Amino acid sequence: MTPSYKRVIFGSFCAVFAVYSAYVWTAGTDIPQNRSPGHQVKAGLALFQEKNCIACHQLYGLGGHMGPDLTNVVSAEGKGPDYARTFIENGTSKMPNFNFNETQVAALVQFLGFVDSSGTYPPKNPEITWYGTVAYGASKNTE
Ligand code: HEC
Repeated sequence: MTPSYKRVIFGSFCAVFAVYSAYVWTAGTDIPQNRSPGHQVKAGLALFQEKNCIACHQLYGLGGHMGPDLTNVVSAEGKGPDYARTFIENGTSKMPNFNFNETQVAALVQFLGFVDSSGTYPPKNPEITWYGTVAYGASKNTE
């Protein structure tokens, strides 16, 4: 017969396994806030892809490097939706004017707003959970 302490250890592992499995199977997978993109955001994304804005700009640091990163242009200090709109409407000497109509400009600004609400680039002091991962939705930090 095996010594009883081995049974206790084995039993403890089984208990931990059972409890953790129960937790994993029952923990919800819901995303904390409503993050589904609306009709305008989708139209903005389509334009962003069609006009290849990413050739010159980056989102989360990825893309071309002729223009600035656009991840947080809508919430950055001193910038904002109207600031972004001005560039999209008129272009500059380095950025083309795409001659967008009102609806298209609004859609692109909505899209940039949606991207902005998804997080911060570069990441700033993300909140870390007690088990060591980045807390979902907490990476947006105004510091
Ligand atoms: C040919 C390269 C190029 C393309 C394509 C381009 N941009 Fe730009 N964009 C720039 C440059 C360069 C700037 C910086 C302004 C300047 O230096 O004139 C800029 C600035 C901006 C800004 C202001 C960013 C800030 O933080 O100051 C926004 C918003 C913007 N672009 C949006 C867009 C969108 C949306 C598209 C696609 C429809 C796009 N751009 C396509 C080159 C480009």
